[in-house]
Amino acid sequence: MSTSKASLGILISGRGSNMDIIIRACQANQINADVAIVISNNPNANGLILANSLGIKALAVNPRDFNTKHEYENTICELLVDHSVDLVCLAGYMKIVGNTLLKKYDNKIINIHPSLLPSFKGLNAQKQALEYGVKFAGCSVHYVNDVLDGGKIILQDIVPVSEDDTEETLSHKILEKEHQIYPKAIQKVLASFKKSEE
Ligand code: GRF
Repeated sequence: MSTSKASLGILISGRGSNMDIIIRACQANQINADVAIVISNNPNANGLILANSLGIKALAVNPRDFNTKHEYENTICELLVDHSVDLVCLAGYMKIVGNTLLKKYDNKIINIHPSLLPSFKGLNAQKQALEYGVKFAGCSVHYVNDVLDGGKIILQDIVPVSEDDTEETLSHKILEKEHQIYPKAIQKVLASFKKSEE
């Protein structure tokens, strides 16, 4: 990895707008990496079609085809290793990452979450934020560990909440920020890999 570009693997479950931004940032050399593979647990994810249309190998690994989470994640690990993936980026991946992936890619899995962590972990973060009445919401890119949305934070950005925001409008505003910080966070992590190699 030291001389050539890094390889990214992206795990998705749905529409893949963050994945789209990451692929385009790599293609525009804004991130010093190539997206080697996109994997979805959901065979019907729109992101798979989108990735293919951008010339990226994208496939589904359906957990229903496996007896255990270990076997499911082991297949994902094999694909990531076969594609020489250095860093795994979760982008709307709706499954909890288990031990098999965590061990194989220790400290090399990152995620984007639509809240200012450590507030509002888990599902429907934007709704949780609105219900709490916060005046500033936002998004966080963080390392993935065995605590849900609990790994060390890499980058965050804030979004002011207006009185008339709905879950939909707030989610939209946060998503725009997500698209800005995810590529920057990836660059930051890749730079830290380089430093630790020196
Ligand atoms: C984003 O809001 C992200 O923060 C969360 O899931 C959503 C995925 O959106 N983890 P997309 O698939 O990247 O469009």
